[in-house]
Amino acid sequence: MSKGATANAPMTVEPVGATALAPRRPDWREILDVLATRCSCRDFDGSPIDRSVLAEIVRDGTEAPSSCNQQQWHFIVIDDPALKLRAHEISGGNHHFAECSALIYLCFQKGWTHGNFSVVQSVAGAAYHMMLSAHLRGFSAIWNAGIGDKVALAEMMGVPPTFEIQGALAIGRPRPSAPPMKAPRRPFTEVHSWNRFDRPAVTRYPVKLADEYPFFRIRNDDNPFALWDPRQWSWGQIGDFRGYSVWAKSPLAGVYVSRRQGAATKVELDLLPDLQTGARVVEVMPWGGTYSVELRRRLNPKVELHLAELSPHNLTFIVERFRQEQLPVDRLHTELMPQGVLPHADASVDAVVLPQVLEHMPDPQRMLDEVRRVLKPGGHVVASIRNLDSDYGRHWHDVESRAQIPNQGPFQPLPAATVQGWLAERFIAEREIGIGREVSSDATMLDGSDILAGRLYAARYRRG
Ligand SMILES: Cc1cc2nc3c(=O)[nH]c(=O)nc-3n(C[C@H](O)[C@H](O)[C@H](O)COP(=O)(O)O)c2cc1C
Repeated sequence: MSKGATANAPMTVEPVGATALAPRRPDWREILDVLATRCSCRDFDGSPIDRSVLAEIVRDGTEAPSSCNQQQWHFIVIDDPALKLRAHEISGGNHHFAECSALIYLCFQKGWTHGNFSVVQSVAGAAYHMMLSAHLRGFSAIWNAGIGDKVALAEMMGVPPTFEIQGALAIGRPRPSAPPMKAPRRPFTEVHSWNRFDRPAVTRYPVKLADEYPFFRIRNDDNPFALWDPRQWSWGQIGDFRGYSVWAKSPLAGVYVSRRQGAATKVELDLLPDLQTGARVVEVMPWGGTYSVELRRRLNPKVELHLAELSPHNLTFIVERFRQEQLPVDRLHTELMPQGVLPHADASVDAVVLPQVLEHMPDPQRMLDEVRRVLKPGGHVVASIRNLDSDYGRHWHDVESRAQIPNQGPFQPLPAATVQGWLAERFIAEREIGIGREVSSDATMLDGSDILAGRLYAARYRRG
């Protein structure tokens, strides 16, 4: 196709043809279809890839266009196992950094610009080209913006201060058990329009009202426009947001488990009532299934576990996660709850669990009405909430809520006494506790007069 290409002469490319309509290759559709099967992998087998192959992948990437053809990029390939381990450590524990065959750090020169992030756009073009090259060669890859402390990385790789480290590709061979799935794509009609902007309301997330939204005012830890109050979001917007963002990670065992949440979950699970063979339990809005897997482990194996979510994409994620966690899926039922309406008949459920989800809802009291409707007489609700009237609540108000909303969607901690009142209006109290004295991490169980002062308030109530 090309002729006359040397290291220092411009490359000439044959014209496609007089009509410019003839495809370059008869199998162009097939090639695009193969490219479209690329999906991110976060579970590599650790085997090495020959340096000559890695070099070809990086060189393929440099065929990408760049702003003003300046090619202000630099790619550092890390294949030394000790450095991959260090990179894993710096990234904050991304296992795939240590287990991939190689990391390719994506850098660009600073102190130079053509505006519009054109240098960043150029590196991005090259990075995706490398991913496609790796994919066509039979390897898998994952792009990472989450690389950790850039100062430590610059030190590790000897990157001068005039170069920015933007992200890293991890390339390797997937383990045979790696989830064979690609994150869901939005319906095409949602993400394009002709001649003018047009996009469904449910995919346009609310922000605080302002005259303008200057890009450089918006930071992860300081976003003046973030709207944390779920009452200002519709159920549809919340479901849409949560259904795509749960795929920020792969549905692997142990994903989305934080130290803080892990310890508290065990204490919350102690509130479960005794449930016999055949009993039906509904967990509401499980998002990535972190609580669901612990719930499944704790329940009698013959109990039917129903997961109710707003988006089917959370449910697909959780079913694969169950497989990865070696948990059975035969008594797992996945259901949609559009507009926050539970898909169950009146008085048909033995227990409903609401683990730290009421605070994500536009109308938590209506959800409690729903719970009452679906519970059998004598059935139980086990609920927990992040407590606004606690040190954590004050921290959320002063610090956390200034940041961008998390991938689980908007939420606002609720005052424990208020939620206690909502529960008492509808159900009969059986057990109430507080969990955690500190802003984060501890799971101390608080009883007596302290139940309304912990980071979490958790309770078991019974339908009369
Ligand atoms: C710019 C960029 C940064 C990303 N950063 C991360 C990251 O830090 N960690 C991670 O696990 N995945 C990261 N991803 C991967 C995305 O989560 C993934 O591409 C997305 O969920 C779509 O899935 P797919 O690649 O399987 O199609 C990143 C992707 C892009 C394009």
